[in-house]
Amino acid sequence: MTALFRLFNVTKNYGDRQVLNVEHLEIEAGHIYGILGPNGSGKTTLLRVISLLTLNDTGKLEVLGEHIHWAPTQLLRLRRQMAMVTQSSYMFEGSVFYNVAYGLKTRKTPEPEVKVKVQESLELLGMLDFINYPARKLSGGEKQKVAIARALAVNPKVLFLDEPTSNIDPSSSIEIESYIKYINEEKATTIILITHKLFQARKLAKQMFLMWDGHILEQGPTRDLFHDPRDPRTRKFLKGEY
Ligand SMILES: Nc1ncnc2c1ncn2[C@@H]1O[C@H](COP(=O)(O)OP(=O)(O)OP(=O)(O)O)[C@@H](O)[C@H]1O
Ligand SMILES: [Mg+2]
Repeated sequence: MTALFRLFNVTKNYGDRQVLNVEHLEIEAGHIYGILGPNGSGKTTLLRVISLLTLNDTGKLEVLGEHIHWAPTQLLRLRRQMAMVTQSSYMFEGSVFYNVAYGLKTRKTPEPEVKVKVQESLELLGMLDFINYPARKLSGGEKQKVAIARALAVNPKVLFLDEPTSNIDPSSSIEIESYIKYINEEKATTIILITHKLFQARKLAKQMFLMWDGHILEQGPTRDLFHDPRDPRTRKFLKGEY
């Protein structure tokens, strides 16, 4: 199995506060990974480091099989193979088409191909009817679907989802969850999902990480983590006591 991400003793400080300290982490291609943990435990920071948006302070980082030395050309090349959707996705002024086409245009994709890919990804997310609609006028759930379509249009190897359904209602969440599953299964996209919804993590993720004070407190197959957590803090967290 190829490891898409490998971290050794990766740390990140803000001021004199250490917010991330990951001794060892490996993520393989093809699965959905879930990241759980209390507020402020370092989940987003971890995601931003491995997606090459935030520079770590110490340690060794490998992304898509390459040792990261933070040269701008390397970053650009690797970042283009990954896409991120956050909890309230930013929509550019303009149509849904313009928003979904954005990443393709920055990658200098030929115009006819842009059209096909935008349509395909909107169709996949059930949003094709909105193609000419002003993106900023969409509801929160619709925006999230467009944001996922936008991420998908560039055919990323890895899709990072940082609480993609935390601002949307239960039925839209369920719909989005089914798209996430479909993308992983049909497009073989590796998905790394941060969520506070334990049920969602359980339903979607094959492997799970539990973050605690910047550390990975526990990791393993989702089933094991939920049925037989090793650390008492994991047990409490999963019972909703944190
Ligand atoms: N740019 C920044 N400057 C200063 N401190 C930061 C910065 N980004 C994150 N932090 C701090 O690092 C810690 C970890 O933040 P992070 O966003 O990774 O947590 P999280 O696990 O994603 O939390 P949440 O569940 O609330 O999203 C927090 O205490 C946060 O205040
Ligand atoms: Mg976060």
